Amino acid sequence: MIIAIDGPSGAGKSTVAKAVAKKLDFDCLDTGAMYRAVAWKALQGGTALDDAEALEVIAATCPIDFGRDEGTQTVAIGGIDVTAAIRTAEIDRAVSPVSACPKVREALVEQQRRIGRAGNYVVEGRDIGTVVFPDAEVKVFLTASPEERAHRRVRQNVDRGIGSIDYETVLADIIRRDDIDSNRAASPLKAAEDAVPMDSTGCYIEDVINHICSLAVKAGAGEVSQ
Ligand code: DC
Repeated sequence: MIIAIDGPSGAGKSTVAKAVAKKLDFDCLDTGAMYRAVAWKALQGGTALDDAEALEVIAATCPIDFGRDEGTQTVAIGGIDVTAAIRTAEIDRAVSPVSACPKVREALVEQQRRIGRAGNYVVEGRDIGTVVFPDAEVKVFLTASPEERAHRRVRQNVDRGIGSIDYETVLADIIRRDDIDSNRAASPLKAAEDAVPMDSTGCYIEDVINHICSLAVKAGAGEVSQ
């Protein structure tokens, strides 16, 4: 079974996806991490972010692998662990042009389909319900106001000790990225027609998690663990 969770950055997709996966004993696929890994590799090799051909070569030839380290999901590209390196402000900026490149998307979507269909997955991203798994058994479009998302991101950056902790800077970056993600030609961020809209602004994340689990059980997932 595939549970697709799409929405803008900072809407709480990762937190929700991990919790839902744990409760249903599913695996989690963070597709944003794959675009981030390609952006990291491009920056490492001095590839220009508007060089579509070079970006395509990276996406098509550098294997991206997910692993586990003491309960945390890790990600590697070309055998190099980039779990922490893909969460910097530099990658936040570089990843939008990379993910707007149609050939990069083609290569990564193919990998995402291969991984997801091999088991029961909660898959989070921007185009999961519309492009990657249009036949997903459960589709959710998770949003929150830009202001709430900026507050959450600042708290997250403080906890992790990376990224900007200036609210206005973070808010401006969120608005800029929403604009790029929603208006790009290739697979723009938009809700699938059959996605269940959920707004996490000012609500308990537990309620969102439980709602998604109940949709999954209705769609045929097994037991929910507490
Ligand atoms: O969810 P995130 O912030 O880690 O995503 C990083 C970038 O990748 C963001 O600019 C949106 C893009 N992305 C995408 O275009 N399609 C996806 N399925 C996942 C992420």
